[in-house]
Amino acid sequence: MGIRLPSVDRNVIFVWHAFGFRESPYTTEPVPATEEGDHLLVGREDDIRKLASRILAGGNHPTIEGDNGIGKTSLLQVACYRLRRDFEAGQSQALFIPLRNLFQPNEASTVDEFIKKVYFEIAGTIIEEYPTLRKHASKAPDIKEIEAWLTSPILRSGGVNGSFFGVGGGVSRGASANGGSGFADLGFISTVDAWLRQLFPTVQAGGFICVIDNLELLETTRQARNLLEAIRDPLLNRRGLRWILCGARGIMRTTVSSPRLAGRLSDPIELAPISHDCVADAIRKRIEICGQRPSATAPVGPETFQSLYDILNRNLRHALKSAQDFSFWLHDENLASGDANEYANLFEVWLTTQADQNHTQTALGNRTWQVFDDLAERGGRCSPGDFADFDFNSTTAMRPHVKALEQENLVAISAEDDADKRRKTIYMTSRGWLVRYARNGYQPPAWTRELARL
Ligand SMILES: Nc1ncnc2c1ncn2[C@@H]1O[C@H](COP(=O)(O)OP(=O)(O)OP(=O)(O)O)[C@@H](O)[C@H]1O
Ligand SMILES: [Mg+2]
Repeated sequence: MGIRLPSVDRNVIFVWHAFGFRESPYTTEPVPATEEGDHLLVGREDDIRKLASRILAGGNHPTIEGDNGIGKTSLLQVACYRLRRDFEAGQSQALFIPLRNLFQPNEASTVDEFIKKVYFEIAGTIIEEYPTLRKHASKAPDIKEIEAWLTSPILRSGGVNGSFFGVGGGVSRGASANGGSGFADLGFISTVDAWLRQLFPTVQAGGFICVIDNLELLETTRQARNLLEAIRDPLLNRRGLRWILCGARGIMRTTVSSPRLAGRLSDPIELAPISHDCVADAIRKRIEICGQRPSATAPVGPETFQSLYDILNRNLRHALKSAQDFSFWLHDENLASGDANEYANLFEVWLTTQADQNHTQTALGNRTWQVFDDLAERGGRCSPGDFADFDFNSTTAMRPHVKALEQENLVAISAEDDADKRRKTIYMTSRGWLVRYARNGYQPPAWTRELARL
């Protein structure tokens, strides 16, 4: 089976055929929870071990913190795949089954709607995985009863009330439209809970893995905390459900520190970018799998990809996207010659041009550029409280420069920490790193240069 592709039209597929590939070796989709996904994921053995052991241990639910595009979803997919594989091979007694879909926090939904969605997913997953569950559990629910619930008009029609995750946001869709009976009153939740207790009578028996991905989509840590505190008792405290929560930009780190969530969520597994060496392997494997013929030449080979990865401050998703953009450009310009050296040279020209164009399109004052360059030298991350390091007397004095950089999409600012606004993180975007490349004599960031030398 090939890498799972997002839906693409025929012309896009033909681009890859022109290079001798069945499909894009640079797809930015997370690696799937399959044997092939396990093969494609590199450099994450320690993190997989950490995550799998936290899932198996029961008690606090595991959490993952890591920049966007660093590989959180891929990591958890492969960890889940391995737990299942070990169970099937008889090496583990614990059966862990991921629900069919990951959940994303949605500001405009209610807690009840979220709970309802989760319970529907559980019921749907029980049906899908029924043969395995029946073998595993001494007593399994009656599948006809589950189907009857899922198709029952009263369940489908709603019965939703409750409060919103978001605070004071003025969103009111459906909040009290159904007034009276909540979804919980319909009996579905207690029925599903009974099924869960039958299927997973002990922590050692396993459970369904439920994932809330991209918690940073909520704009403030308060919203994230509200969501998690609201689902603490109805969802985080249920036999047979193991939760994995993922977030970027510090949202996970600050959220788990809520006293109300203590004893429910473990400290985050902090994901670092995969190493320079691993990334070459990652691309080599993709090229092998996607190549239609052994002689197919990838537009961006492993070594070129390594330097691109460093230039973009080791962000895998951005590097893959850039490799994809370059491939389209080669194809558009009729330059798909199949010559690896020529591709490497053209890539340098292309990237330099991209960097120069982005740089010249950005109009900023000298002081703001200085903040930008200092930020890059510090590794691309700071907080408003670090103003003195940038030679300002106060956060207020630094703020307009940060705002200007944000407007030019050279930096982004993390979700706000309500308790301490100075704990916000300012970090450079991929466009920022590209522009920095042009401003810095076409060198990758200093920290990656040092690491690459070791
Ligand atoms: N360890 C790895 N080895 C090989 N490829 C990887 C690895 N980790 C991630 N990838 C690839 O990098 C890209 C980004 O990964 P993924 O979607 O898992 O990141 P993420 O942290 O979940 O991002 P987001 O925060 O945007 O959800 C994907 O194309 C994925 O296939
Ligand atoms: Mg993800």
